[in-house]
This record gives sequence, C-alpha cells and structure tokens, in this order.
Amino acid sequence: MDILVVGGGGREHAVIKALNKSRRAGKIYALPGNGGIAKDAECIPVKATDIDGIVAFAREREVDFAVVTPDDPLCMGCVDALEAAGVPCFGPTKNAAVIEGSKVFSKNLMKKYGIPTAASEVFTDPAAAVAYLERASYPTVIKADGLALGKGAVIVNDFDEAKKTIREMMVEKVFGASGERVLVEEFLTGPEVSVLSFTDGKTIVPMVSSMDHKRAKDNDEGLNTGGMGTVAPNPYYTEEIAAECMEKIFLPTVRAMNAEGRTFKGCLYFGLMLTKDGPKVIEYNCRFGDPETQVVLPLLTSDLPEIMLAVRGGTLAADMVRFKKGASCCVVLASDGYPKHYETGFPITMPEPGAGEDIYVAGAKLQDGELLTSGGRVLGAVATADTLEEAIGRAYALADRIHFENAYMRRDIGKRALAALKAQ
Ligand code: AMP
Ligand code: GLY
Repeated sequence: MDILVVGGGGREHAVIKALNKSRRAGKIYALPGNGGIAKDAECIPVKATDIDGIVAFAREREVDFAVVTPDDPLCMGCVDALEAAGVPCFGPTKNAAVIEGSKVFSKNLMKKYGIPTAASEVFTDPAAAVAYLERASYPTVIKADGLALGKGAVIVNDFDEAKKTIREMMVEKVFGASGERVLVEEFLTGPEVSVLSFTDGKTIVPMVSSMDHKRAKDNDEGLNTGGMGTVAPNPYYTEEIAAECMEKIFLPTVRAMNAEGRTFKGCLYFGLMLTKDGPKVIEYNCRFGDPETQVVLPLLTSDLPEIMLAVRGGTLAADMVRFKKGASCCVVLASDGYPKHYETGFPITMPEPGAGEDIYVAGAKLQDGELLTSGGRVLGAVATADTLEEAIGRAYALADRIHFENAYMRRDIGKRALAALKAQ
C-alpha cells in the first residue's frame, strides 16, 4: 500500500523508517519531509498545515493510507479532510485532537472524570489572573491554553515572574490566540515519564515507556526545548506503576473521550509525573512525541502499518504491539544557540549507521546533492542495545561521528535514568 506521511521532523523520519520495514509498505510520500527523509521517502513540497494541498496530493496519487503525526494539522482537521476525501488515516479527528489543542479542555476532562492531575484555575482576564497569583504559593505553573510549540508551560518562582508571564501570554499575546485563556496550575514534583499508546477508541495498548530531556543544557539547565534526547524504557516506570496508570489514567481517558462524543483513534501520548501521591497527568498529546518516537519505534518488533490499520478499523488487540527487550537512546544534535538564535546552512557529514543504530534527520535540506543544516534540532543519533548503558554509549559514539560546524549536544542524555536503574 502507498502511504502518505504528513510532517517533516525526526519523528516522521522514525515513523517512515518503521513503515518501510513492513512488507505492506509500497511507495511512501512525505509532505513535506526533509533533506534526510528524502533517502527513505519521496518528499513533496507541501506544507504540513496546507490541508487542501495534502488532500489534493492524496487524491491525485491515489494513496492508500495517510499517517498524520504533527499537532497542527491534527488540530486543524487534516484527518477529517482526508477521510472525507476517501483516504483512510491514522490519527485523531479534530474533535478528539482537542485533547492536546486545548489545555483547558483536557483539564476539564480530567476534573470531570476523576483522572489524576495537578489542581488548577482557568483565567480569561489578565487582571483576575494577577489577583489570583498575588495569593498563590510558589513555584507555580502558568500554561497557555492552545498550541505553543512546546513552550506554553512556564514555571514561575515568584509573583513578579508570574505577572510578567501573564503579560506576555495574555496582553502581548506572544503565543497569539493560544494565550487568550491561561491555566494556573499547582507545581508538582517527581520523575517524568512519557507513555505513547495506540488506541482505536476501545482498546488502548501502551508502547514502551520513555524519558525526554527537555532542557537545552546538561543537568536540566537552560531553556525548555522540543527535546534534546530520550531513552526507553524509563526505569522509573515499573510494572506496578504501569498497572496503576492503566486503571486510573489510560482507560478512564479513552472512556471519557467516548462519553464526550470525541472518540480518540491514533497515538495518544501521556506526559506523566510520578508524584508521591501517585502518577498524575502533566499533559496529553494527540500524537507521537518527538523525540520519544525515535527511541520507541526502533524497539517495536511488530508491523507498524498493521497496527495503524487496526487502530483506524477498530480492531486493535494488545498482541499486535510487541517490543523487543533491551533499551534505546537518542541524542539530539542541535544548531548551537537553539532554542534561541542559531545559524544554519552548514554541510553535514555522517557515517552509515551500523546494526542497531540509526540517524533520524529533523532539520536539514538537500542542496545540489549536499545535506545542509536548516533547523534548530538537526538530527538524532539513535542506538538500541541489550542494556541502557550500552545504548547510551553507542548513541554517543554515533553522535561523535556526525559533524557540522555549529553542532551542539547535551552530554548527559540517559544519565539520570542509568543512576535510577543502578539504584534499583
Ligand atoms: P507541557 O508543555 O505541559 O508539557 O510542560 C512542559 C514541562 O513543564 C513538563 O515536561 C514539566 O517538566 C513542566 N511542568 C508542566 N506542568 C507542570 C506542573 N504542574 N508541575 C511541575 N512541572 C510542570
Ligand atoms: N517530546 C515531547 C513532545 O513531543 O511534546
């Protein structure tokens, strides 16, 4: 079957490589893809947010299936538009994607259905928010309601910082309409876990757990980024905690979405914090995480197109989703300066990955046959191995063989996970 993949980051590269492993995969198109993805799929210069362009392409080439992975097109209704045009899709419809698209929606959902999460208040008026924050205890968390490129959650340490954040979000509107409503949320502490899951709206099958490293610098210092590296599995996520999450969070979320008439089909991402009062939801995403996907899919041993067809068709079963034992690590190479100012356009040299290794390209373009950097996060060096320690070592060995002029990477991806594992 010919498959169209909407998007063009490292996550999409990992999805495309996993699809390509299947006997079922025919031609794969990436819209728009990127210079690195071009090795594994035909890249078509249609933006991921150009819904009409995507539908027109799918019809013209008569693609058999579409996989929509980025948040923007999902929240804009890309799946609805493709399905209406007769193209079967993997991904939630617009009315289900709101679980990520509006943090106020997801917070209300959790409150209504008793799903554990941080306590919070919603504000549409900046003066009311400031009045509330004057009496709040710190640190506290301020979140823009809508999509904000992963930068919409700000931890503030005092009233001055809180006022400044409210001004930026609600008055200066740095996130546009996404900041018209804000949540002020209780600050939680504990290890964070990402759990991606497949769900067809009835059955939910979690994938192997993972740990993201969101801050730009070693020891979780520096600014929040889209993610500087990941490891899987996450050692804090024990079988006992997994069972508790299934009972108190995963199944209740699927049922709640059904009860609201917003059946979710696709990849549902749970951002969890393991607090001393049990696991709580920090955020839902309506899609695969980036760079979680880059460590989760290399451990998948079963057939991804088959799973995706079952998700769409409502025939998902737990035994369709199988992972190998072992661990994986993704080290992101970024352009120095990311997530603020950085330069691009530098030639990239990289080795052919060995067995159990891979390179997923996020921000690079092909120019006259040469691969040049074109984004903040340029690529992820990934290795899988029997142990986490070995996976981390191999991912860094691979990363050290990749060169471009202003390359920057964290040196401590997986360090905390390894320490947690050794303490067990
Ligand atoms: P989000 O954009 O909701 O994923 O938040 C980004 C990051 O902010 C999370 O990965 C957490 O590290 C942190 N964060 C979000 N909400 C809270 C909270 N209620 N308490 C503590 N940290 C939080
Ligand atoms: N890595 C977190 C996300 O994809 O939102």
